[in-house]
Amino acid sequence: MSLKSNLLVLVMVIGGLGSAPLMAEAQIGNVRGLPPLMKVEGTVYCTADGNIGNIDLAYPIPFFTDARVEILGFLFGRALPPSVTDDSGSFSMYFRSTSLSSVLTDSTIMVSTPLSNCNSTLPSTGFLSSTLEYNGTVVEDGNTIMTLVPKRFRFSPSP
Ligand SMILES: *[C@@H]1O[C@H](CO)[C@@H](O)[C@H](O)[C@H]1NC(C)=O
Ligand SMILES: *[C@@H]1O[C@H](CO)[C@@H](O)[C@H](O)[C@H]1NC(C)=O
Repeated sequence: MSLKSNLLVLVMVIGGLGSAPLMAEAQIGNVRGLPPLMKVEGTVYCTADGNIGNIDLAYPIPFFTDARVEILGFLFGRALPPSVTDDSGSFSMYFRSTSLSSVLTDSTIMVSTPLSNCNSTLPSTGFLSSTLEYNGTVVEDGNTIMTLVPKRFRFSPSP
């Protein structure tokens, strides 16, 4: 999805919240009265743990494409629509939150598509997950956006 269509979803989500608290520090994100705009972005690799690992130029690490990515433990008490990794294994999700620190504390990113989808020798059950870390701000379409990236994926076998 483009940034604009993601923002549209956000506006609809926030519109459904009723009285969203108005924060004094809401200048970031450039829409008065709305909490700051944030983006989670990252790349998933087709490896046993989803991370790029040691780079060997002779054997480029393949991307994990078409993988479903979700944020768990989400702040509005409701989930964001999941994202799907593109041809470069990359995903991004936009949302607004008043508290970067609680996003970092409470949110986990999960890749729920089995690794066997990208390499049949990898497990067909289980999932990848990672906590998030702050990676600075970017400006897109005139909006200042706080970016978050996966810290490090780990593989969990299904319970
Ligand atoms: C984190 O920020 C740096 C500097 O802006 C950027 O080069 C890098 O691509 C970002 N990391 C991710 C995973 O987007
Ligand atoms: C598939 O995964 C196995 C085990 O990790 C690895 O040895 C192999 O190189 C991978 N194949 C491809 C095409 O990436």
